[in-house]
Amino acid sequence: MVLGLGTAAHLVCAADAGPRERLRLDAGWRFHLGNEWGGGQNLAKAGSGAGPASVAFGDGSWRRVDLPHDWAIELPFDPKADAGHGFRAIGEGFPQNGVAWYRRTFALPASDAGRRLWLEFDGVYRDSTVFVNGWFVGHHESGYTGVRYDITDVANCGGDNLVAVLVDASQPEGWFYEGAGIYRHVWLVKTAPLAIAPDGVFVAPRFQDNVPVGPAEIHLEAQLLNQQPAPAEATVTWEITGPDGRTAATATRRVPVEAKSGAAAAQIARIQNPRLWSPETPVLYRLVTTVAAGGRTVDRVETEFGIRTVGFDANRGFLLNGQPYLLKGTCNHQDHAGVGVAVPDGVQYYRVARLKEMGVNAWRTAHNAPAPELLEACDRLGMLVMDENRLLGSDARHLWWLGELIRRDRNHPSVAIWSLANEEFTVETTAAGARVAATMQALVKRLDPTRPVTYNAPIGNVWEGINSVIEVRGWSYRMGVDRMDAYHAAHPQQPNVGSEQGSTVSTRGIYANDPVRGYVSAYDDNHPEWANTAEEWMGFFDPRPWLSGGFVWTGFDYRGEPTPYAWPCINSHFGVLDLCGFPKDNFWYYQAWWTAQPVLHLLPHWNWAGREGQPIDVRALSNCDEVELFLNGRSFGRQRMPRVSSLRWQVPYEPGTLSAKGYKGGKLVAETKVETTGAPAALRLEPDHPAIGANGEDVAVVTVAVVDAQGRVVPVADNAVSFSLAGPGRILGVGNGDPSCHEPDVSVAAPVLRSAPVTDWRWKRIDDPYVDKLPEAAAGADDSGWDKADVTAESGPLTDREGGVFRGHFTVSAADLNASAIELVCSRLSGGGWVYVNGVRLAQTSDPRTAAAYGIKALLHSGENTVAIALKNYGGAGGVNRGVSLRVAEPPAPVAWSRSAFNGLAQIIVQASRESGALKLTASAAGLAPATLVIEAKPARPRPSVP
Ligand code: GAL
Repeated sequence: MVLGLGTAAHLVCAADAGPRERLRLDAGWRFHLGNEWGGGQNLAKAGSGAGPASVAFGDGSWRRVDLPHDWAIELPFDPKADAGHGFRAIGEGFPQNGVAWYRRTFALPASDAGRRLWLEFDGVYRDSTVFVNGWFVGHHESGYTGVRYDITDVANCGGDNLVAVLVDASQPEGWFYEGAGIYRHVWLVKTAPLAIAPDGVFVAPRFQDNVPVGPAEIHLEAQLLNQQPAPAEATVTWEITGPDGRTAATATRRVPVEAKSGAAAAQIARIQNPRLWSPETPVLYRLVTTVAAGGRTVDRVETEFGIRTVGFDANRGFLLNGQPYLLKGTCNHQDHAGVGVAVPDGVQYYRVARLKEMGVNAWRTAHNAPAPELLEACDRLGMLVMDENRLLGSDARHLWWLGELIRRDRNHPSVAIWSLANEEFTVETTAAGARVAATMQALVKRLDPTRPVTYNAPIGNVWEGINSVIEVRGWSYRMGVDRMDAYHAAHPQQPNVGSEQGSTVSTRGIYANDPVRGYVSAYDDNHPEWANTAEEWMGFFDPRPWLSGGFVWTGFDYRGEPTPYAWPCINSHFGVLDLCGFPKDNFWYYQAWWTAQPVLHLLPHWNWAGREGQPIDVRALSNCDEVELFLNGRSFGRQRMPRVSSLRWQVPYEPGTLSAKGYKGGKLVAETKVETTGAPAALRLEPDHPAIGANGEDVAVVTVAVVDAQGRVVPVADNAVSFSLAGPGRILGVGNGDPSCHEPDVSVAAPVLRSAPVTDWRWKRIDDPYVDKLPEAAAGADDSGWDKADVTAESGPLTDREGGVFRGHFTVSAADLNASAIELVCSRLSGGGWVYVNGVRLAQTSDPRTAAAYGIKALLHSGENTVAIALKNYGGAGGVNRGVSLRVAEPPAPVAWSRSAFNGLAQIIVQASRESGALKLTASAAGLAPATLVIEAKPARPRPSVP
């Protein structure tokens, strides 16, 4: 059975409270880039797998990786690669880099027999095929929707189990950087045979007229799955705990569940004086859903949720908790500096926190299902979400993926609006487009009647097609009186939202366009022809509350779409923050108009040596009524600030201090200054957290600053910085926000491989290669009188139905036996039979079309060793063909980490292990005083995980 995913970190299981276990399966995978073995599935014989999908395959020479993992950021840049995807050597023209395998072995205790076992993948980019113990268990194309497989039947309780995953990332799903690999968490879930179904909990707070006055009605649903051969009488109990830790409401329902079937239980609970969730007050309640049958608790699932209402009004705009609430949003792709799309949970929190500082209250998950942990961060930190589906379509598969997204995410209070799709140019105005969208919208409404639905439409005053059926009209650019105002006048009943707006292109710390290096000035001046600057869209939306506010394209830079340039530019310029989350100047523009705190920011920097006396375009971003500018104490005048605007001065350059004073109601409320700095003198390291948890997951996001002798960040510094980390942890990746930087994000530690052919072969005819104790395969068998065999040919020597044993001899040194793995690689075994090493029966031959590799280190001794391969030819090429070799893998050599600063800054992401202690990060650069940072990894309980 295959069910789409809905893991969700918000379903938390208390280990001691029921038979459900949810174990992280992230650590200790083996990874191989490339695929020499075909699709893995041996269609002729069930459960046998081919190549890495077979249990006998040896992967000891493969690289060890922990998930989440994105192999695309490990690849070099190539000007021949796709610009939209960020010029990584993957996709069209790079078939060798588009496909990879992952393998992981894990043990299951015998006591798991009788439980239901699920394997859950939160996100694999893309087109993944999963095998368990040689069995094909499923294929999932979406690179964004998760997938879940019931592996109960093929699991081996009381022994080892092998998961093999073939990932094919060669075809893009979007037009932006998408990564490659198992880039989100993987889970092993164990439940009783009668249990809550995957994503089977739905909690929906409701109020009369969708206005939170009076008690909240909490609509509770539990979908049960009974895999037992007998019917069951289940009792579902819901207990809601308030933010104060006290029980706020309880409910219960008895429900019969047929054998091998499902059933739903529903109830309504009431909470008298609920505390409401909002971005400003992210108050969370906790629902515990318990299932009991036959006097025993058989399942227990915890769900975090919030109590709030969302809606739209055609004239008042978006409504939160019954009140007009301006959406101050950003659209975001999911990749971050250093880690690509394999974003650690801690970095999700880091990103949400950076946007909140800017005054952002809403996040559009452009253009795909987000990671569950992003939504968890939005719930907890307070951020509304427009949760966007990747692909438009109403066929069974597209509806399945959409349904999985809704079921997975509908308990999150942050999720406020569903988006069906983005800019489907070809079909959006057609009758078919309208029908497809209507079918999708109906599915969303059936699964979640509480949230509005939109679609991001890049068209103006056009009603035909999707706009005519969608609940909320989404506006992708196309601003203007003749478009938005005319549309609103013609369709006064339909609410509107600025689902994609703005789109200034800018580079942090750069103040003139530079097409050669691929930089755009950070003044709010440049935008693609279809879009607008920040001031333009804010100016248009500000007097039109019916537009609900909007979502800036984008919060963060992302890889790919290097508009307005191409190579050497490899990432976008759209972000208000760069790829590291370092603010560009527009950050303070939005902060000024989206927060209530006094904001006063000056740009540009004041290091213009060589431009003395020349006018510099100085701007103030502020929400003060008036701002006065000074250079070295001399006033350049006090100006009134127009609404959602900025102020400008032309200032002849002289080194020193540019400063400003901001006034509100005539009172001085803010001051700021920009100083000419000295030359780079030292490095400084600043973590986002002084301490992290030693749980194997937690991260510190560390800012690397190049500073002058007085400790001021040098805004033009580009020094090359090297890093080293001592203590219990590792460096995950590095970045600097430079959209044209081709330095690596990661330094990969790969095993060192040596290969040597096994050359000395003889062979002999036999009748039956399958006999139990084949004397010709025994360790000491005398093969001196046998015929010599050439095992490098394409075929032979066995004729049809003929059997034979092939023996090869090779020498292994004592030093070889210290290697991390030794594998026997057989390029092609044409026939059915067995492989022996030193007389030990190792594995049955598998698919003759693919190479086989067997881990044999444990069977070897120093000196001479033998391999024997007994085969029967069933009409194939009849023999041991295309060569046999011995592959010795040595542990990876330590890797060096480095990254240049870009305009004074770089970033390094450090992850804790499970060992507590001090992580000592050192940064050094030629000619600068080095910096050392100690991050405390404090004892912390790791999440339950598969050993
Ligand atoms: C929009 C599109 C985005 C991005 C952007 C660039 O039309 O929805 O994904 O491509 O343009 O300006």
